[in-house]
Amino acid sequence: MQRRQIENEINELKQDFRLRTIKTNNNELLNFSSNDYLGILKDEKIFEEFYSNLNFEEYKLSSASSRLIDGSYSIVMSLENEVERIYKKPCLVYNSGFDANSSLIETFFNKESLIITDRLNHASIYDGCINSGAKILRYNHLDTVALERLLEKYSNEYKDILVVTESVYSMDGDIADIEAIVKLKERYSFQLMLDEAHSYGVYGYGIAYNKNLVKDIDFLVIPLGKGGASIGAYVICDEIYKQYLINKSRKFIYSTALPPINNLWNLYILKNMLKFSKKIENMEKLVKFSLNELKRLEIETSSNSHIISIIIGENNATTKLSEVLKQKGYLAYSIKEPTVPKNTARLRISLTANMDEAELKTFFLILKEEISKVKVI
Ligand SMILES: Cc1ncc(COP(=O)(O)O)c(C=O)c1O
Repeated sequence: MQRRQIENEINELKQDFRLRTIKTNNNELLNFSSNDYLGILKDEKIFEEFYSNLNFEEYKLSSASSRLIDGSYSIVMSLENEVERIYKKPCLVYNSGFDANSSLIETFFNKESLIITDRLNHASIYDGCINSGAKILRYNHLDTVALERLLEKYSNEYKDILVVTESVYSMDGDIADIEAIVKLKERYSFQLMLDEAHSYGVYGYGIAYNKNLVKDIDFLVIPLGKGGASIGAYVICDEIYKQYLINKSRKFIYSTALPPINNLWNLYILKNMLKFSKKIENMEKLVKFSLNELKRLEIETSSNSHIISIIIGENNATTKLSEVLKQKGYLAYSIKEPTVPKNTARLRISLTANMDEAELKTFFLILKEEISKVKVI
């Protein structure tokens, strides 16, 4: 790309109030933009316990190799075994959710395939779809009736169909009806992929696990950078799929493995998930409280989870709202196109389990006051 074109595009982004910049994070603000949903990273007791038992000699800060060469340290193998013990299906650890989603789709699907995807699925899913060369059809967000219509229409034409959904949607805070999608398997032949990035931790081992649906999901992806308070991702699938990924998935094969210390931490979180039940219960209470408060204050949202999305519409107004909140002590980033559809710029408010009702109450009152000063669509 020529320099002149790059400059033009950057100028366009500036004029449209969409230029992304990187800012140092600010620990003094009450953080509504963190994905550490369970507040694990703020829990000193957890870290004391983790570090007090840590043998730094054994758990290195780099794997210094890919998994297939010298990077499969015993800790990552133990982690995969523990995931398999819990979910009752084999697991392959990836370096990130982005790698897991994109690589899985581009490895298994090709120009003979049809991929049917919820319109609002994550960029990593879209990248995989595009790289696979498959035909891509999008259904309206969460609309299982529209999904079924597509399955009905295309099932004869395509033998190889993938349906992809997330469980909790990160920019809307609403939740897919996974049971209804699984039920469609009784009538149509397709493989199902589920991304649980925003439910792992908040819902313990995830919504699919809680509803006993893991057996029905061909590819379960659990990115660990959010409620998992870490990095990496679990791909949970049948052994034959795992073998295929080990042999064909370029992002698995040609990348340095996660450092052993990160996998020790992943294993610690996994093994202690049941101990986090107090945090999970507190989160449930905070979600209920917040949704009631929003209703009472007549602040519109279609969210029904720990992620609360307040659509403002216009980019500049949303940025201003976020800035005013910052001046008042709150970090709530504005989200704009292309992360969300044009004209639906929004505040994305994520709750974390270490918050309390009193501070939420004050925040929502201030939010109400500030929203009324900007134009709401
Ligand atoms: C739904 C979803 N899937 C996948 C990812 C990517 O995960 P990771 O951050 O581990 O690359 C994200 C995070 O941004 C996400 O929100």
